[in-house]
This record gives sequence, C-alpha cells and structure tokens, in this order.
Amino acid sequence: MNKPITFDPYSILVDFYDHWAKPQSEDIPFYVKRAAAVKGPVVELGAGTGRIAIPIARAGQDVIGVDLSGAMLTEAARRAAAEGVVDKITFIEADMRAFVADPPVELVIVPFRGFLHLLTADDQLAALASIRRSLVSGGRLILNIFVPDPETQVALNGRKTSHGEFVDERGRRCEMWGLPEYDVTSQRLHLRVGLDIYDGERLLDTIETAFDLRVIYRYEFEHLLVRAGFEVEALYGWFDERPLEGDAREQIWVARKP
Ligand SMILES: C[S@@+](CC[C@H](N)C(=O)[O-])C[C@H]1O[C@@H](n2cnc3c(N)ncnc32)[C@H](O)[C@@H]1O
Repeated sequence: MNKPITFDPYSILVDFYDHWAKPQSEDIPFYVKRAAAVKGPVVELGAGTGRIAIPIARAGQDVIGVDLSGAMLTEAARRAAAEGVVDKITFIEADMRAFVADPPVELVIVPFRGFLHLLTADDQLAALASIRRSLVSGGRLILNIFVPDPETQVALNGRKTSHGEFVDERGRRCEMWGLPEYDVTSQRLHLRVGLDIYDGERLLDTIETAFDLRVIYRYEFEHLLVRAGFEVEALYGWFDERPLEGDAREQIWVARKP
C-alpha cells in the first residue's frame, strides 16, 4: 500500500532545530547516563537530528533511532557520519505508534516532549503498547514532557514570542519565534514556529511551520502508564533528578515493564 502523503512540519524546522532545542541541553547527560547503564541497543523514539542519539553513541552505546520525519533522519545520518558514530546508530523511518523493537531492548527513550505529538488517547495507548512490546521484562521507558502551566498558557495564547536568535552560516541574523494557540477543552496546543531572517535591519525572509501538541497533566500520564501495563518507578522535576514539586517545569518519567 502506498504511504499517505502528509505534511512533515519538521522538514522546515530541521534547518534551525538544534538552535531551537539549545536551551534543552541539560537533558543530554541525563539520557546518556541512563543509556550507558544498560545492555544495548537503546531505542530512541522521535530521534530527530540525533541531538541525543549521537552523544549516546559517542559514549559507546548502540542506538536504534526511530522517527517519522525523513528530513530529520537525513540530517541525523549526516551528523552521525560527521561525528564518526555511523556504525553505532541504526536510523529507522517509522511511527512510534507501531514500531516494535525485535529483539526487545532494556531501554526505550522519548526525549524532548516527542510523546506530545500523539494527539489522541488511542494514539498514546498505541505507542505505549508498542513500547511495552519493545521492552524485555524489567525494561524501562524514560521520557520527558513539559509541566502544563495554565497561567503561562493563558499569558502566551495567540502571542508571538521570541525564542532567541543566532547568526547563520551566511552571516545573517536569524530570529526564532513561537506562536502558541491553546484550546483548553481539547488540551491541544497549536504551535506555529518561525524564523525571521535579517540582512542588517531589513527582513529578508520568514520561514514558518506548525504542529499540534497534546498537553498532558501529571496524573493523566500516570493513568496512561498504568493502563498500558507499566509501573511508575520515578518521576523527576528536572534532569538532575530532583523530585517533581513546586515550580518544576518538566515531567521526567521512568516507567518499568513488570
Ligand atoms: C521535539 S523532536 C525531538 C527530537 C530528539 N529526540 C531531540 O531530543 O532533539 C520530536 C521528534 O518526534 C518525531 N515524531 C513526531 N511524531 C512521531 C511519531 N508518531 N513517530 C515517530 N516520530 C515522531 C518528529 O519528527 C521529531 O523529529
């Protein structure tokens, strides 16, 4: 059967993805440590440009990097080659709702909120069932998603907000921005992400993409995990493994297949 034609929002974001993800760098040592502690390979779902997979491979661990986006995987493969770890990573273009590792592995990770791309409970449960099948008994799923903050969601709703800037390889100043639109009842966040490219003060071009995310609350995710047959082993509020409490911004889940 032919693959249905769908728009890949990451085919545009790929060009400035790592600048966009830069503030997230504290997740890298966390995932590398977890990955290095198991017998490989480790499966990363939503592996993107290899931002996490490549440091894991550099630490000596084998990785299976799964992603829906051919554009992101092409960039990941280019970087893996440049970093000399091409033999340590197998990239697979597949959907995390259906991908099952064979043979099963000890660790599946879904870093940087990749799980939020699953928009319905059916999709979330399909992914969790596939992840469960990908794991050996006693194997772990580790992922992070943001802590929903109603105050921020209301404050930023419909507003274009700067996400920092960088100078590209042609010396042009590039300003990244996000424009979130949040629908309370569906818990859907429609996020427009763009890049304004300047020559001095003159705006040369704007490139823009958009995707939907499904916001997930803490106890909602706990229910999903239990429903999918996982035990919750730990829930951290940051990558230094402090507990999720107070003004924590990230939910970092460690779940075990019994
Ligand atoms: C926020 S990026 C994270 C990339 C990488 N893990 C990182 O930490 O930089 C999310 C990735 O998930 C991928 N993705 C979205 N939906 C997916 C799905 N259903 N199955 C597999 N990958 C998916 C996107 O193409 C994108 O590369």
